[in-house]
Amino acid sequence: MDIIDPAVSDYLLTHCTPADDLLRDLAAETERALPGEAGMQVSPDEGQFLTMLTRLVGARRAVEVGTFTGYSSICIARGMPADGHLLACDVSEEWTSIAQRYWQRAGLQDRIELRIGPAVDTLRALPAEPVLDLAFIDADKGSYPIYYEELVTRLRPGGLLLLDNVLMGGRVLDQGFQADATVAVRQTNEIIVGDDRVESVMLPLRDGVTMARKR
Ligand SMILES: C[S@@+](CC[C@H](N)C(=O)[O-])C[C@H]1O[C@@H](n2cnc3c(N)ncnc32)[C@H](O)[C@@H]1O
Repeated sequence: MDIIDPAVSDYLLTHCTPADDLLRDLAAETERALPGEAGMQVSPDEGQFLTMLTRLVGARRAVEVGTFTGYSSICIARGMPADGHLLACDVSEEWTSIAQRYWQRAGLQDRIELRIGPAVDTLRALPAEPVLDLAFIDADKGSYPIYYEELVTRLRPGGLLLLDNVLMGGRVLDQGFQADATVAVRQTNEIIVGDDRVESVMLPLRDGVTMARKR
């Protein structure tokens, strides 16, 4: 299912602050090196949205779950002040080696810390205190309920949790789709809408983005 009309989608892409050369190079290299996986990267308009939200929240401490070749991490880190800290979680040394090169090139290497390993372990090992300003979830969908819980408890009041792919190409709407990933994202969407700890809105941006703000 196209979440929004492709013509509208194209129009949105051409009517936001465009990606700069660095992000364009990263997207092109990812496409060349990993043609089968490049579609996992956030789109330029979603990237711009991440930068803007990071700035609006005034985020200095953030966590990203699912870094891949680094597009979204760069967009988040760019919205932070120079002493900001983004913890980037992924399982792939290979894919994140591309991210690390681009962090260097962007001058963001001091702002981003990479943690390789299952993100569930990484998140559970973080201090329990609610000190995070922003978190972005964009990794294995089956673990979305766990990622949500581990991160929402660590968000400060007013902190923002963002989740990508919450529409799963429209499959969350249709109970006929019972793949584990779809069920987990559907379940996460229900958890969030019933969670008094947050106020939330789901946006039809690309494959759906939820914004959950900690009360
Ligand atoms: C959709 S991609 C992330 C795209 C990225 N946000 C971007 O803009 O380029 C999902 C990433 O999650 C990672 N991943 C998958 N399972 C994971 C796990 N259990 N723990 C941490 N990362 C995982 C994959 O290696 C992959 O890089």
